[in-house]
Amino acid sequence: MDNSEKKSNLVKVLTGKKTNATPIWLMRQAGRYLPEYRELRKGAGSFLKLCMNPKLAAEVTLQPLKRFDLDAAIIFSDILTIPMACNRNLRFVENEGPKLNPITTEKEILELKITNQEYLEPVYESLNIVRSQLNQNKALIGFAGAPFTVAAYMIEGEGNTTFPNCVTFFKNNENAFLLLLKKLEDFIANHLIKQIEAGAEVIQIFESHAKVAADENKFKLYCIDPVNNIIKKIRKNYPDIPIIGFPRNADNNYLEYGKIMNVDCISIDQNVNIKWLIKNLKVTNNRNLCLQGNLAPEILLEGGEKMISSIHNILDSFSSINHIFNLGHGVIKETPIENVELLVETIKTWKK
Ligand code: CP3
Repeated sequence: MDNSEKKSNLVKVLTGKKTNATPIWLMRQAGRYLPEYRELRKGAGSFLKLCMNPKLAAEVTLQPLKRFDLDAAIIFSDILTIPMACNRNLRFVENEGPKLNPITTEKEILELKITNQEYLEPVYESLNIVRSQLNQNKALIGFAGAPFTVAAYMIEGEGNTTFPNCVTFFKNNENAFLLLLKKLEDFIANHLIKQIEAGAEVIQIFESHAKVAADENKFKLYCIDPVNNIIKKIRKNYPDIPIIGFPRNADNNYLEYGKIMNVDCISIDQNVNIKWLIKNLKVTNNRNLCLQGNLAPEILLEGGEKMISSIHNILDSFSSINHIFNLGHGVIKETPIENVELLVETIKTWKK
């Protein structure tokens, strides 16, 4: 077997190669819809304790691959470990989501640094463990949040849809906000480089709250430029590492993202019109770009015939380009396991 045959279908598709089958993995594929996850989490005491224990985090990462014929494992961690390592007192409140000590002053930004590297180390250790246990034909994905999304949580002190405190902050003091993005750019680039050193073969960068910047006409300055800087830093040492970008809910801005972001693949949410994006990216961009997505998690939750026809529609719409099957956002915690089984089987038996 030569080297290219040993590579996972996921890496092949990301590097412009053709494959017989469409690779599939799911955002939040390890999580609360799995009883074995709930069990381990109970034993660990909390979500964060699970993230901070490399052996348990590795086990959770591998859980979905034991059940389903997925093409990749994504390391079990969170985008908010970066603020946690900056001593912003991250905690997860049951049914309320993440809380942090909000940044309110420029002084806090000037003083911001990684004070608790020990909160990031477990990720590298669990990557090592997972890689040693993962089959060669499965890819291992590392990830981080993009600077804007991480900054939004840090200023807001929690998550919501419009991040009003963050918007007020960047409108009143853009220089301080840009400094925060710059600092996060460095922290995140280092974190991703260390993940690659520890065995991550693909990187995904989550810009979950791209819409907040897009609505203020700041998409390029806040969401594109900082991530392109991170990619530049990574590629200095790792020129060939495949990178997936996910500017969720960026609407028309997906086009600009596709044109000027130096990613190998764009992950799209369920609101994106696939044909529109493919057509327009082809016109403006000769790069061999791959797209990932975009089944609505609500359709997976529902399952049945409607899900199967939605899957076939998506596969048909992407048939002219390299495509990774995924959801438009993470698996919902009430999703029945049978629906995930049916989804994976539908992908694996589909013929182009
Ligand atoms: O399987 C995987 O996808 C890998 C693990 C992963 C988690 N979070 C685990 C997790 C990944 C890639 C993330 C990314 C993440 N975290 C994002 C970007 C993607 C997105 O969802 O938009 C964001 C915004 C976060 C921040 C975060 N973490 C929130 C808002 C929440 C609470 C919401 C919720 O679902 O409870 C989390 C908690 C979280 N991160 C859980 C998991 C499995 C649930 C924890 C639990 O209660 O067990």
